[in-house]
Amino acid sequence: MKCNLFLVFILLALTACKQTSSNPNNKDMDRFVDQLMSQMTLEEKIGQMNQLAIGFDITGPILNEGVEEKIKAGSVGSVLGIYTPEATRKLQELAVKESRLGIPILFGYDVIHGHRTIFPLNLGLAASWDLDLIERTARIAADEASADGLHWTFSPMVDIARDPRWGRVSEGAGEDPYLGSLITRAYIKGYEQNDLSQNNTILSCIKHFALYGAAEAGRDYNTVDMSRIRMYNEYLPPYKAGADAGAATFMTSFNEIDGVPATGNHWLLTELLRDEWGYQGFVVTDYGAIREMISHGVGDEREVAELSFKAGVDMEMVSELFYQYGPELVKSGKISEKVINKACRRVLEAKYKLGLFDDPYRYCNEEEKAKRYFTAENLAVAKEAAIKSMVLLKNDNELLPLDSTKKIAFIGPQVKRKRDLIGSWSAAGDYNQAVSLWEALDSKFGANRFLYAEGCNLLEDTLLIRKLNGFGSKIERSEKSSQYLIQEALNIARRADVVVAVVGEAFSMTGEAASRSDIQLPENQRELLKALAQTGKPVVLVLMNGRPLVLQWENDHLNAILETWFGGTMTGPAIADVLFGDAVPSGKITMTYPRNLGQIPIYYNYKNTGRPIHEEQKYTSKYLDVPNTPLYPFGYGLSYTTFEYSDLTLETGHAPSVQEISINIKNTGKYTATETVQLYLRDKVASITRPVKELKAFQQIELQPGEEKTLTFEISENDLKFYNSDLEYRAEPGEFDVFIGGNSCDTKQATFTY
Ligand code: GLC
Repeated sequence: MKCNLFLVFILLALTACKQTSSNPNNKDMDRFVDQLMSQMTLEEKIGQMNQLAIGFDITGPILNEGVEEKIKAGSVGSVLGIYTPEATRKLQELAVKESRLGIPILFGYDVIHGHRTIFPLNLGLAASWDLDLIERTARIAADEASADGLHWTFSPMVDIARDPRWGRVSEGAGEDPYLGSLITRAYIKGYEQNDLSQNNTILSCIKHFALYGAAEAGRDYNTVDMSRIRMYNEYLPPYKAGADAGAATFMTSFNEIDGVPATGNHWLLTELLRDEWGYQGFVVTDYGAIREMISHGVGDEREVAELSFKAGVDMEMVSELFYQYGPELVKSGKISEKVINKACRRVLEAKYKLGLFDDPYRYCNEEEKAKRYFTAENLAVAKEAAIKSMVLLKNDNELLPLDSTKKIAFIGPQVKRKRDLIGSWSAAGDYNQAVSLWEALDSKFGANRFLYAEGCNLLEDTLLIRKLNGFGSKIERSEKSSQYLIQEALNIARRADVVVAVVGEAFSMTGEAASRSDIQLPENQRELLKALAQTGKPVVLVLMNGRPLVLQWENDHLNAILETWFGGTMTGPAIADVLFGDAVPSGKITMTYPRNLGQIPIYYNYKNTGRPIHEEQKYTSKYLDVPNTPLYPFGYGLSYTTFEYSDLTLETGHAPSVQEISINIKNTGKYTATETVQLYLRDKVASITRPVKELKAFQQIELQPGEEKTLTFEISENDLKFYNSDLEYRAEPGEFDVFIGGNSCDTKQATFTY
């Protein structure tokens, strides 16, 4: 058995000088990495830049072969797709005991909204606007993932998205750069806790760098093309927030930028990320993205490998072109060994910070796993997150909360189905351990307290079902005909005082490679809803979905609408608590809901144009055939109570504050509830056109019925800055409108001059 005496020697030498990586500082780390790299061959250095996919979960179009041999040869720096202490220990032993230098490998995985305990999908978590909660979910995810052998999560996804046809909106924080930046920081803090040497913290990964959410027509992997001004002001801020927060890694995106794929884009990966932002971590590509540059049309295998080396990629996910062509590209002088050295160093530094050179098996601890995995405390946070993510979109005549003494019919394919509850990218989540709404109702009120009917299949489209079942959706169709199912449901509905219709998307209708050209509810579900509406019974619509949907008909014909997303392991108990008033909905959407497909892209921070929208005047920027407002605007969400805003006052602040703004909020309803008070600014005249509104601050406040409080916001010069035509980040003097309210439309307004 080849033993890496050299590595043992280094560790002994460092220990002798009391240098360990348990509390790494740069000098210790530099010395260790220098000594290690001085022993490495060119091939071994390139090996650290090679990440291979193996095992449990396939998240891309190809899988690698000969992984164990390559690990033993010292040609693998990281592996993605497996977890558990046992499986990771087996591969780690190959690396540490059988490769020449015994350099441990990094285990990475997509832990994006929980590992075993699954939280609501990320667009739902964002709707909580609760940064502390989001950080706690990330900390629990890291605690469980690290107990399961993982060192690195490919999260947070921070892509700004304004097109709900794109299935990956489910993974992000929505359309706003300010909120998206704060949420990015919360995830990083939760995953890394400013101390990677702890054995329950993991590397985070800012993805997908960059602008992936702007894929044309919301079609995944499609062309992205925008001005630098739009990039800097509207799409790049969350990535920069991740770099500034010291995220351990970045991941390149599949799309092109300025005609050059991100994975080979020197401006993006070196001039912007390194030179302008000073980023120190390492950059991994997305799955096979280097090889996919051949399809982009920018070279053959060798040429795209060279392009990525030169652009500043440090690790290649899966396509093995660095491994295949790297040595000869260096030997032929096409790329300098300095490029390899920089990349290899960054990867080794991450391993050092994790303490893997001290103990490569520190994350492979079954006892730790037993203590930290899927605990009652974690499930309690999952329920809290599911509740706080829900958004009440409509509630005519206070139909909600429901009175449990009434006859209530729960109808729809998502009343009992569990597969979708944990959404896509559900890591080690087990949907069998998720609690359905029906199970939660049984636990809360006793078995079969309420009426039930399936009402319709989740989908009728057999081609779509076949496609989705290929990705584990487990969609079955009832033997009963759809007519029979509807009739059965109507018979049940007629016996009830209230109908709760529980419908939505299959989890695999969102996420990666799941763009939809029609984002209404599936047609067969809408037929059921229309039939239920015709009974004249009040209907509550409970939605399970991963993106904003077109809900104009539902909004016009149903009495209440509760957006629950894919709420995670504790979906059922959370929905039951909210439906019956044991929890009050407080979520606010972070992506605009359009009235129809034609309005897309529609977002709140739009430009005024020279012919601003005016419904009556002809020559203005509008559609003739639809009201030119969203169905539900950014920041919107109702409560069981009501809030009254008053007394918006401005005072000139003392530097750096330029304005002190205060607003009075009163709970004018019957329920104690939390409100997210949002502050927007409009820069009315500047050297470039500026959005009609930009979120600049928010505060969450809980008020008892009748209670009122005054909130104060400090606006600093920094809040007024933007990137001008020269891409300088500046504030410009002039008038600013201030808007404060419970969403981006219904606001109190004032003006100040800076
Ligand atoms: C996928 C996704 C990326 C993910 C990676 C590894 O293609 O684009 O978000 O982290 O591959 O699974």
